[in-house]
Amino acid sequence: MTGGQGSNPQRGLLITFEGPEGSGKSTLIKGLADRMAERGLEPLLIREPGGTDLGEQIRNILLDPASEGMCGETELLLMVASRAQLVREKIIPALAAGRVILCDRFADASVAYQGYGRELGADLVDSLNQVALGEVQPDLTLLCMLDPAAGQARLRNRATDRLDRETIAFHRKVFAGYQALAAAGDSRFKVIDATASATGMLAAALAHLKRLEHGLLKHL
Ligand code: TMP
Repeated sequence: MTGGQGSNPQRGLLITFEGPEGSGKSTLIKGLADRMAERGLEPLLIREPGGTDLGEQIRNILLDPASEGMCGETELLLMVASRAQLVREKIIPALAAGRVILCDRFADASVAYQGYGRELGADLVDSLNQVALGEVQPDLTLLCMLDPAAGQARLRNRATDRLDRETIAFHRKVFAGYQALAAAGDSRFKVIDATASATGMLAAALAHLKRLEHGLLKHL
């Protein structure tokens, strides 16, 4: 999946955030959204799975610890179903309206979690993602990288969902998936060191955004 860096400045921007659990993604997204709001931009904040009414219902099924018998294939199809709805209901209209979208996880999460974590393979995930995405591609993907053991330790005091509760072996496979994506050479991926402070992560993310040289981001 290649990115659209340097795309038409009249069009909006799709920025996605990925990484293992506990990598500080949510704090980073909030920091960026605050910074954008200060500069007069109103980013659209969305998350996956979820982000639409239908998608949030799918999210509840996916993350409910009571769904413990769910097989990997069902998990993948539900993730992709949520994504197909989000792309058509929110992402395409927002891009057409020239907005900046900050999306907490997107198609790459299915490659890492279902492709590598559940061992369903990146090719299967890519082909299903194509159904969900159509022509849509992220312009930039910020990959917050943190060793899975450190991420799990950060989560220890939080209420955990079905996927958070997975074994460390599963989270190591997910991490390997993200590493493989980062190493594949697609320039839309930028790795952020998630052992850095929240301020350090925000500064690194802003530097990557500025390098896009997109008209919407010129005052950041
Ligand atoms: P969150 O905790 O970052 O909100 O994400 C919800 C969980 O769903 C998280 O454990 C990652 C997982 N997930 C997948 O397994 N596949 C996917 O395609 C997506 C978007 C998320």
